[in-house]
Amino acid sequence: MTDIKPLISGNWKMNYNHLEAIQLIQKLDFKLQSKNYERVEISVHPPFTDLRSIQTLIDGDKIPLKLGAQDCSWHDSGAYTGEVSPTMLAKLNVLYVLVGHSERRELFGETDQIVRDKLEAVLRHNMSPILCVGDTLEEYEAEKTNDKVFSQVQSGLKGLSLAQLCRVVVAYEPIWAIGTGHNATPAQAQSTCSFIRSIISDLAGLEASSTIRIQYGGSVRPGNAHDLLSQPDINGLLVGSASLDADAFAEIIEYV
Ligand code: PGA
Repeated sequence: MTDIKPLISGNWKMNYNHLEAIQLIQKLDFKLQSKNYERVEISVHPPFTDLRSIQTLIDGDKIPLKLGAQDCSWHDSGAYTGEVSPTMLAKLNVLYVLVGHSERRELFGETDQIVRDKLEAVLRHNMSPILCVGDTLEEYEAEKTNDKVFSQVQSGLKGLSLAQLCRVVVAYEPIWAIGTGHNATPAQAQSTCSFIRSIISDLAGLEASSTIRIQYGGSVRPGNAHDLLSQPDINGLLVGSASLDADAFAEIIEYV
Protein backbone atom coordinates (compact mmCIF):
# COMPACT_ATOMS: atom_id res chain seq x y z
CA MET A 1 0.00 0.00 0.00
CA THR A 2 3.07 2.22 0.09
CA ASP A 3 2.20 4.02 -3.17
CA ILE A 4 -1.02 5.52 -1.74
CA LYS A 5 -0.57 9.21 -0.89
CA PRO A 6 -1.48 9.52 2.78
CA LEU A 7 -4.27 11.83 3.89
CA ILE A 8 -3.91 13.62 7.21
CA SER A 9 -7.17 15.27 8.27
CA GLY A 10 -7.77 17.71 11.10
CA ASN A 11 -11.24 17.51 12.63
CA TRP A 12 -11.69 20.71 14.60
CA LYS A 13 -15.12 19.69 15.91
CA MET A 14 -17.01 22.66 17.45
CA ASN A 15 -13.94 24.81 18.05
CA TYR A 16 -12.76 28.19 16.72
CA ASN A 17 -14.74 31.03 15.17
CA HIS A 18 -13.86 32.27 11.69
CA LEU A 19 -11.23 34.73 12.93
CA GLU A 20 -9.48 32.13 15.06
CA ALA A 21 -9.72 29.73 12.13
CA ILE A 22 -7.90 32.16 9.83
CA GLN A 23 -5.11 32.53 12.39
CA LEU A 24 -4.71 28.78 12.75
CA ILE A 25 -4.51 28.22 8.98
CA GLN A 26 -1.96 31.01 8.58
CA LYS A 27 0.18 29.58 11.36
CA LEU A 28 -0.11 26.06 9.98
CA ASP A 29 0.87 27.13 6.49
CA PHE A 30 3.84 29.00 7.90
CA LYS A 31 5.02 25.80 9.60
CA LEU A 32 4.50 23.51 6.62
CA GLN A 33 6.89 23.41 3.70
CA SER A 34 6.30 22.47 0.10
CA LYS A 35 7.88 19.05 0.72
CA ASN A 36 5.10 18.32 3.21
CA TYR A 37 2.44 19.03 0.63
CA GLU A 38 4.21 16.84 -1.94
CA ARG A 39 4.29 13.81 0.33
CA VAL A 40 0.92 14.07 1.94
CA GLU A 41 -2.56 15.41 1.34
CA ILE A 42 -3.79 17.54 4.22
CA SER A 43 -7.43 18.37 4.87
CA VAL A 44 -8.85 20.67 7.53
CA HIS A 45 -12.43 20.29 8.76
CA PRO A 46 -13.52 23.46 10.57
CA PRO A 47 -17.07 24.28 11.67
CA PHE A 48 -19.47 25.32 8.88
CA THR A 49 -19.33 29.00 9.84
CA ASP A 50 -15.56 29.08 9.17
CA LEU A 51 -15.62 27.46 5.74
CA ARG A 52 -16.06 30.56 3.60
CA SER A 53 -13.28 32.46 5.39
CA ILE A 54 -10.84 29.58 5.02
CA GLN A 55 -11.80 28.96 1.42
CA THR A 56 -11.06 32.60 0.62
CA LEU A 57 -7.72 32.40 2.44
CA ILE A 58 -6.50 29.18 0.84
CA ASP A 59 -7.62 30.24 -2.63
CA GLY A 60 -6.21 33.77 -2.30
CA ASP A 61 -2.84 32.70 -0.86
CA LYS A 62 -2.68 29.49 -2.92
CA ILE A 63 -2.26 27.32 0.17
CA PRO A 64 -2.34 23.66 -0.88
CA LEU A 65 -4.54 22.58 2.03
CA LYS A 66 -7.77 20.76 1.15
CA LEU A 67 -10.98 22.06 2.63
CA GLY A 68 -13.17 19.60 4.50
CA ALA A 69 -16.47 19.60 6.37
CA GLN A 70 -17.55 17.63 9.43
CA ASP A 71 -21.02 16.64 8.26
CA CYS A 72 -23.71 17.48 5.70
CA SER A 73 -27.34 16.88 4.91
CA TRP A 74 -28.31 14.09 2.54
CA HIS A 75 -30.84 16.45 0.91
CA ASP A 76 -29.75 18.91 -1.76
CA SER A 77 -32.16 21.69 -0.71
CA GLY A 78 -35.56 22.25 0.85
CA ALA A 79 -37.37 22.67 4.15
CA TYR A 80 -34.75 21.14 6.47
CA THR A 81 -34.19 23.76 9.14
CA GLY A 82 -30.65 23.91 10.41
CA GLU A 83 -29.16 21.57 7.81
CA VAL A 84 -26.29 22.33 5.42
CA SER A 85 -26.57 20.95 1.92
CA PRO A 86 -23.81 19.12 0.01
CA THR A 87 -24.39 21.49 -2.95
CA MET A 88 -23.45 24.41 -0.68
CA LEU A 89 -20.30 22.63 0.45
CA ALA A 90 -19.28 21.76 -3.09
CA LYS A 91 -19.73 25.40 -4.07
CA LEU A 92 -17.17 26.34 -1.39
CA ASN A 93 -14.64 23.92 -2.92
CA VAL A 94 -14.99 21.49 -0.05
CA LEU A 95 -13.34 18.23 -1.11
CA TYR A 96 -13.72 15.94 1.91
CA VAL A 97 -16.73 15.48 4.17
CA LEU A 98 -16.74 13.35 7.32
CA VAL A 99 -19.75 11.05 7.47
CA GLY A 100 -20.78 8.95 10.43
CA HIS A 101 -18.30 10.35 12.94
CA SER A 102 -18.96 8.52 16.20
CA GLU A 103 -20.06 11.75 17.86
CA ARG A 104 -22.75 12.15 15.17
CA ARG A 105 -23.78 8.53 15.58
CA GLU A 106 -23.76 8.50 19.39
CA LEU A 107 -24.86 12.03 20.32
CA PHE A 108 -27.16 12.82 17.40
CA GLY A 109 -28.64 9.40 16.70
CA GLU A 110 -27.29 8.90 13.19
CA THR A 111 -28.08 5.39 12.01
CA ASP A 112 -26.17 3.36 9.43
CA GLN A 113 -28.92 4.29 6.92
CA ILE A 114 -28.49 8.02 7.55
CA VAL A 115 -24.74 7.65 7.23
CA ARG A 116 -25.21 5.83 3.92
CA ASP A 117 -27.53 8.54 2.61
CA LYS A 118 -25.01 11.22 3.54
CA LEU A 119 -22.18 9.29 1.93
CA GLU A 120 -24.13 9.03 -1.33
CA ALA A 121 -24.98 12.75 -1.18
CA VAL A 122 -21.29 13.63 -0.84
CA LEU A 123 -20.38 11.40 -3.79
CA ARG A 124 -23.24 12.83 -5.88
CA HIS A 125 -21.62 16.26 -5.60
CA ASN A 126 -18.16 15.01 -6.55
CA MET A 127 -16.67 15.33 -3.09
CA SER A 128 -15.03 12.49 -1.14
CA PRO A 129 -16.67 11.08 1.97
CA ILE A 130 -14.53 10.04 4.92
CA LEU A 131 -16.61 7.21 6.35
CA CYS A 132 -15.92 6.91 10.08
CA VAL A 133 -16.34 3.53 11.74
CA GLY A 134 -15.35 2.23 15.16
CA ASP A 135 -16.06 0.09 18.18
CA THR A 136 -17.18 1.11 21.66
CA LEU A 137 -15.19 0.09 24.73
CA GLU A 138 -17.76 -2.64 25.50
CA GLU A 139 -17.49 -4.02 21.99
CA TYR A 140 -13.71 -3.91 22.16
CA GLU A 141 -13.64 -5.72 25.51
CA ALA A 142 -16.10 -8.33 24.24
CA GLU A 143 -13.83 -8.83 21.18
CA LYS A 144 -16.59 -7.61 18.89
CA THR A 145 -14.49 -4.99 17.09
CA ASN A 146 -14.50 -6.82 13.78
CA ASP A 147 -18.26 -7.51 13.90
CA LYS A 148 -19.02 -3.83 14.48
CA VAL A 149 -16.63 -2.58 11.85
CA PHE A 150 -17.85 -5.20 9.36
CA SER A 151 -21.47 -4.07 9.62
CA GLN A 152 -20.59 -0.36 9.42
CA VAL A 153 -18.32 -0.78 6.40
CA GLN A 154 -20.81 -3.07 4.63
CA SER A 155 -23.73 -0.74 5.12
CA GLY A 156 -21.64 2.28 4.13
CA LEU A 157 -20.09 0.87 0.98
CA LYS A 158 -22.02 -2.13 -0.35
CA GLY A 159 -23.26 -1.64 -3.91
CA LEU A 160 -21.12 1.41 -4.76
CA SER A 161 -19.44 1.37 -8.15
CA LEU A 162 -15.67 0.99 -8.40
CA ALA A 163 -15.33 4.66 -9.42
CA GLN A 164 -17.32 5.74 -6.36
CA LEU A 165 -15.40 3.46 -4.02
CA CYS A 166 -12.07 4.81 -5.21
CA ARG A 167 -13.12 8.26 -3.94
CA VAL A 168 -14.07 7.05 -0.48
CA VAL A 169 -11.76 7.25 2.53
CA VAL A 170 -12.49 5.03 5.54
CA ALA A 171 -11.42 6.19 9.00
CA TYR A 172 -11.14 3.58 11.73
CA GLU A 173 -11.68 5.38 15.02
CA PRO A 174 -12.12 3.22 18.11
CA ILE A 175 -14.58 5.21 20.21
CA TRP A 176 -12.62 4.34 23.35
CA ALA A 177 -9.61 6.13 21.88
CA ILE A 178 -11.35 9.39 20.88
CA GLY A 179 -10.47 12.27 23.14
CA THR A 180 -9.27 9.90 25.87
CA GLY A 181 -5.52 10.08 25.41
CA HIS A 182 -5.48 6.26 24.97
CA ASN A 183 -4.78 5.50 21.34
CA ALA A 184 -4.99 2.01 19.90
CA THR A 185 -1.55 0.46 19.66
CA PRO A 186 -0.13 0.50 16.15
CA ALA A 187 -0.60 -3.30 16.01
CA GLN A 188 -4.28 -3.07 17.05
CA ALA A 189 -4.92 -0.27 14.57
CA GLN A 190 -3.13 -2.16 11.80
CA SER A 191 -5.10 -5.31 12.48
CA THR A 192 -8.47 -3.55 12.17
CA CYS A 193 -7.41 -1.45 9.18
CA SER A 194 -6.22 -4.60 7.42
CA PHE A 195 -9.56 -6.23 8.23
CA ILE A 196 -11.36 -3.22 6.70
CA ARG A 197 -9.28 -3.60 3.56
CA SER A 198 -10.24 -7.25 3.33
CA ILE A 199 -13.95 -6.35 3.63
CA ILE A 200 -13.54 -3.90 0.74
CA SER A 201 -11.70 -6.50 -1.28
CA ASP A 202 -14.57 -8.97 -0.75
CA LEU A 203 -17.11 -6.28 -1.63
CA ALA A 204 -15.47 -4.83 -4.70
CA GLY A 205 -12.22 -6.60 -5.56
CA LEU A 206 -8.54 -5.90 -5.36
CA GLU A 207 -8.48 -2.65 -7.33
CA ALA A 208 -10.84 -0.95 -4.91
CA SER A 209 -9.16 -2.35 -1.82
CA SER A 210 -5.68 -1.37 -2.94
CA THR A 211 -6.75 2.16 -3.94
CA ILE A 212 -8.91 3.18 -1.01
CA ARG A 213 -7.27 5.10 1.84
CA ILE A 214 -7.79 3.93 5.39
CA GLN A 215 -7.08 6.38 8.19
CA TYR A 216 -6.66 5.73 11.88
CA GLY A 217 -8.12 8.22 14.36
CA GLY A 218 -8.29 8.45 18.14
CA SER A 219 -5.84 10.35 20.34
CA VAL A 220 -3.28 10.83 17.57
CA ARG A 221 -0.40 12.96 18.85
CA PRO A 222 3.06 13.84 17.55
CA GLY A 223 4.42 11.11 19.83
CA ASN A 224 2.42 8.24 18.28
CA ALA A 225 1.86 9.42 14.68
CA HIS A 226 5.02 7.89 13.29
CA ASP A 227 4.40 4.38 14.60
CA LEU A 228 0.77 4.45 13.45
CA LEU A 229 1.71 5.68 9.99
CA SER A 230 4.38 3.00 9.64
CA GLN A 231 1.70 0.30 9.52
CA PRO A 232 1.13 -1.06 6.01
CA ASP A 233 -2.66 -0.65 6.02
CA ILE A 234 -2.80 2.82 7.59
CA ASN A 235 -2.77 5.48 4.87
CA GLY A 236 -3.44 8.52 6.96
CA LEU A 237 -4.71 9.91 10.23
CA LEU A 238 -7.87 11.64 11.41
CA VAL A 239 -6.71 13.99 14.12
CA GLY A 240 -9.02 15.72 16.60
CA SER A 241 -7.65 17.81 19.44
CA ALA A 242 -4.04 17.81 18.22
CA SER A 243 -5.21 19.47 14.98
CA LEU A 244 -6.28 22.55 16.98
CA ASP A 245 -2.64 23.35 17.60
CA ALA A 246 -0.61 24.35 14.53
CA ASP A 247 2.68 23.13 16.05
CA ALA A 248 1.32 19.70 16.99
CA PHE A 249 -0.55 19.21 13.70
CA ALA A 250 2.49 20.27 11.64
CA GLU A 251 4.67 17.89 13.67
CA ILE A 252 2.29 15.01 12.92
CA ILE A 253 2.41 15.85 9.21
CA GLU A 254 6.22 15.96 9.35
CA TYR A 255 6.24 12.25 10.27
CA VAL A 256 4.86 11.18 6.92
P1 PGA B 1 -9.02 12.99 19.07
O1 PGA B 1 -10.32 12.96 18.13
O2 PGA B 1 -7.81 13.03 18.18
O3 PGA B 1 -9.18 14.23 19.89
O4 PGA B 1 -9.07 11.74 19.89
C1 PGA B 1 -10.34 12.21 16.95
C2 PGA B 1 -11.67 12.33 16.23
O5 PGA B 1 -12.70 12.40 16.91
O6 PGA B 1 -11.74 12.37 15.00
